[in-house]
Amino acid sequence: MYDFVTNPVSDAKSSYKYKDMYDRNPDVPDGIVPLSIADMEFIIAPEIREGIGKYLADRTLGYTFASEDYYEAVIEWMQKRHSYHLEKEWIAPSDGVVTAIGDLILSVTKPGDGVIVFSPSYRPFRRAVDIKARKLVDIPLIFDENGYRIDFEAFEEAAKEISNKLLIFCNPHNPVGRVWTKEELQRVCDICLANDVFIIDDEIHNDLIMPGITHTVMSTISGEASMNMAVCTAPSKTFNLSALQTSNIIIKNQEVRDKFIGSRLEGFRSGTNALGMEACRLAYRSCEKWLDECIAVIADNATYVRDFFAKNMPEIKALPLEGTYLLWCDFRAWGLSDNELENFMVKKAYIFADEGYVFGASGSGFERLNLACPENVIRDTMERLLRARNKYIYK
Ligand SMILES: Cc1ncc(COP(=O)(O)O)c(C=O)c1O
Repeated sequence: MYDFVTNPVSDAKSSYKYKDMYDRNPDVPDGIVPLSIADMEFIIAPEIREGIGKYLADRTLGYTFASEDYYEAVIEWMQKRHSYHLEKEWIAPSDGVVTAIGDLILSVTKPGDGVIVFSPSYRPFRRAVDIKARKLVDIPLIFDENGYRIDFEAFEEAAKEISNKLLIFCNPHNPVGRVWTKEELQRVCDICLANDVFIIDDEIHNDLIMPGITHTVMSTISGEASMNMAVCTAPSKTFNLSALQTSNIIIKNQEVRDKFIGSRLEGFRSGTNALGMEACRLAYRSCEKWLDECIAVIADNATYVRDFFAKNMPEIKALPLEGTYLLWCDFRAWGLSDNELENFMVKKAYIFADEGYVFGASGSGFERLNLACPENVIRDTMERLLRARNKYIYK
């Protein structure tokens, strides 16, 4: 059994999540753990900690490229965990996924082209489209009593528009927690192929699939579809290695791959991170069991929150968590504005989640809770929420 109980040392001196908490409320009492930004409050897997120590014992940190052993570890992981067959040359080791998305936008579109995004959506997708001077085409997901689904009619209309050249797709979807079915993926691929829309398939959360849910790597849908996409993978969410900024961008289409590598070189980003690659290699080689235990803890936390809401505040709904460790919760029943809800959370309940509006207009009234933390943190958070709700909302 691994340790998913001990709180790691994180503070406002260097952790974005903690800094954000104190920025939002400098008077927050001691001992509060924020549930925002997507990193984990678990201590790192011992295999990675000890392996990095050994790696550093007899090596330098000079300029380093990906070793054969590194590629093998990535290929084996993708085959074993995802039934996803890779050839070495399709893998472009890269720094962060967001950086790679920026480079991919440059590689497959030109200024003014439309980029389709399904909202609510991870904010850096929209920011990257803006920064690279492309046009954001927002297609909100449909949300009803059955949960979230893609608005295929609106999507197809948008794909037919000749200037819309790219879809940034997210599977599992941050923030709504959906793992798209094979049928949904097939439809997305078909529409994109029929209309010459390239796909950036962000699968950074694809190892974090909840028990009973099946995830399909989009590229496995068909040979034709696999040539029309770049699949963004990384060990960062899975093993809490975000600070090492290491990803593997898988691009089967050689023309696109060459452009992607070219745009990295243009930005003077030819290097890779030696410690990031070693941590990725160690994780993929030796941390599968750690991951399985981690997923079980996240799933238990999700069940705890859902049950807690059902029992104590039935007006609040947590959407089913199919993948990621980010629980999307609907607080609209309280009838608060975005400002009022945020103010209640950070000033009254001392809960530092990600506000729904950050994910676009359709996220208004929702909160995204990060469940990758010890169970006692989730229990404390829920108790605080209930106390504040009874004091200020239902007086
Ligand atoms: C969907 C998605 N893509 C990318 C990232 C960030 O990736 P990176 O830190 O590798 O840039 C995140 C982080 O939360 C994410 O949720």
